[in-house]
Amino acid sequence: MSTFLSVPPPGLTGPTRCLVVDDDAMVRQTLRRVLQSQDMEVLDAPDGERALAILERDGTIPLVLTDVYMPGMDGLTLVREIRARYPDTAILVITGVADVATAVESFQLGALDYLSKPVLMDEVRQRVQNALDKRRLMLENRWLQEDQQGRLERQLQVLMRRNEEMFLGQIQMAVRMLEAKDGYTLGHSRRVSFYSVRIAEELGIGGSDLDQIRLGGELHDIGKIGTRDAVLNKPGTLTREEFDEVKQHVIDGEEMLEPLRVDHPSVLEIVRWHHEHLDGSGFPDGLVGTAIPLPARIVSAADAFDAMTTDRAYRPPRTPREANAELDRCAGNQFDGEVIAAFHRAFPDVTRLPRE
Ligand SMILES: [Fe+2]
Repeated sequence: MSTFLSVPPPGLTGPTRCLVVDDDAMVRQTLRRVLQSQDMEVLDAPDGERALAILERDGTIPLVLTDVYMPGMDGLTLVREIRARYPDTAILVITGVADVATAVESFQLGALDYLSKPVLMDEVRQRVQNALDKRRLMLENRWLQEDQQGRLERQLQVLMRRNEEMFLGQIQMAVRMLEAKDGYTLGHSRRVSFYSVRIAEELGIGGSDLDQIRLGGELHDIGKIGTRDAVLNKPGTLTREEFDEVKQHVIDGEEMLEPLRVDHPSVLEIVRWHHEHLDGSGFPDGLVGTAIPLPARIVSAADAFDAMTTDRAYRPPRTPREANAELDRCAGNQFDGEVIAAFHRAFPDVTRLPRE
């Protein structure tokens, strides 16, 4: 399995360290010699407490060999403690020759193998090597699974991003179709997006919040794709039914953009609430004041300014100065005063706005 790995999983590099725990100094000495002959770095402790202190000081040690019967903390308690605190440590238990019950219990507690006393050099070597191989396989296996999981997650994210890009591409195409259908609004979405971003920047908004305002400004009227041309382009005053149809565009737009809700919730808020007024007289929900999310309050002002300064089927355009004055007049009741102030800071000379 390791031949497939370009990078070894953590915990498998460097010299193998080993901790021998036995109250019998002779046994510790024998085991130390055997293990050193296997190129291992050997630490030892006469009881469980001191073994845990060494582990605490040194962190994970790949292999622990422990006696069972020791004064103080016994070997089985030590096995339990090590399993709980250092799950990547392999444990070999050293039992008396005929002590099968203890061997079974140690397996149940998570020991990998056991050695019988008196310890025989060749047997120790073999068991130690087996235990280390088993530990390595378990770590590699876990590492591979985690690596594979990570790869799958990354692929999924790429797919989701691609999906979103495709969706946004379609939606942006729909915006262009909408503007082509209503000749008076050519470039409106792009300008609203531009004004909104500048206002937002003046208000200290950045990062993903700013991106959502940019997108929300561009898509704010997407729901008008469902509004009849006769209503959109009607030169005169709209009947009540026709106005209701126009009002529907904020609801339809929000529905169309549902796939963006998780990652771009502000975009949906902008689409739904860009016709709300601060005093509660707007639509569709009659929200009041700060109940209208700030991104929607920003796009509302940008939208109104651009609508006023653009030629429409039902009226000639106002000059930028007149539109500016109208924003000021309606600040506090229709528009957020701070948003209008930010608009003025962003565009101190409205006669020199970039136009298409
Ligand atoms: Fe709108």
